[in-house]
Amino acid sequence: MTEHSEAEESIVGAVRSDWESVFGEVPRPALELRAVKAAYGKIQVLHGIDLVVPAGRVVVLLGPNGAGKSTTLKVASGQLPPSAGSLLIAGRLMNWVSPSALARVGVCTIPEGRGVFPNLTVRDNLRMATYAGASMRDVEATTYERFPRLGERRRQLAGTMSGGEQQMLAMARALTTDPAVLLLDELSMGLAPQIVEELYEQVAKIAALGVSILIVEQFAQTVMGVADAVGLMLSGRMVKVGRPQDLEDDLSRAYLGAEV
Ligand SMILES: Nc1ncnc2c1ncn2[C@@H]1O[C@H](COP(=O)(O)OP(=O)(O)OP(=O)(O)O)[C@@H](O)[C@H]1O
Ligand SMILES: [Mg+2]
Repeated sequence: MTEHSEAEESIVGAVRSDWESVFGEVPRPALELRAVKAAYGKIQVLHGIDLVVPAGRVVVLLGPNGAGKSTTLKVASGQLPPSAGSLLIAGRLMNWVSPSALARVGVCTIPEGRGVFPNLTVRDNLRMATYAGASMRDVEATTYERFPRLGERRRQLAGTMSGGEQQMLAMARALTTDPAVLLLDELSMGLAPQIVEELYEQVAKIAALGVSILIVEQFAQTVMGVADAVGLMLSGRMVKVGRPQDLEDDLSRAYLGAEV
């Protein structure tokens, strides 16, 4: 280890007690990272992340490009095992558990690019998601109630729908698995503000059903309305944690005056 990285190791970011100052005591959060470090090969990109997502709460990770937000989601979903620290799901240690095994305990990711089948219709995309045992009739009913646009477009090929509609379909597919934890990476990327608002309305409703939601966004605007807590990441560290209204000043500083 170089001297430089040893010096960096000594920087202390937000810790569990900072999350508890928002949420109170949380004995077994739906998702927790404790002092997580992670690396791609030899390059360490997470330098000790503490993160708490209690049941039914929405936590948002914000930060500029390369801050380590997506990497944090990769650790939470099992795609990248922590090199140090712990990944806990409902209080159980899950380091080195595979993404598919984590999915079986209810950790569901909507990947960047949304993960719908472009050459299948909306219905067939939903049907593919029912292999786990949910009834197609129930899945369609809930989906079209939640996202009426998908009902109108049930026979359309997913790849020909707008980005926002595809994101709705990706969320609908994820919800068929009845997840305990939902991980969303840049839900709003490339979408019109109106659609983003609709999507976040659904996110709030899904959380109200008891699903824990961890959202990564680059910019704060719309997501702040649904966030119970916000973690600000910079250079692989969680530098600040708080309620959305408590972080406004830090966010403007972090983005060097960018509108947030
Ligand atoms: N597969 C990879 N191999 C090597 N380095 C990677 C890999 N993925 C990410 N990184 C590096 O890790 C660091 C954190 O990246 P990450 O994707 O987590 O950032 P981010 O906060 O999601 O950024 P953005 O807002 O641009 O999506 C960056 O320096 C990035 O270059
Ligand atoms: Mg990212």
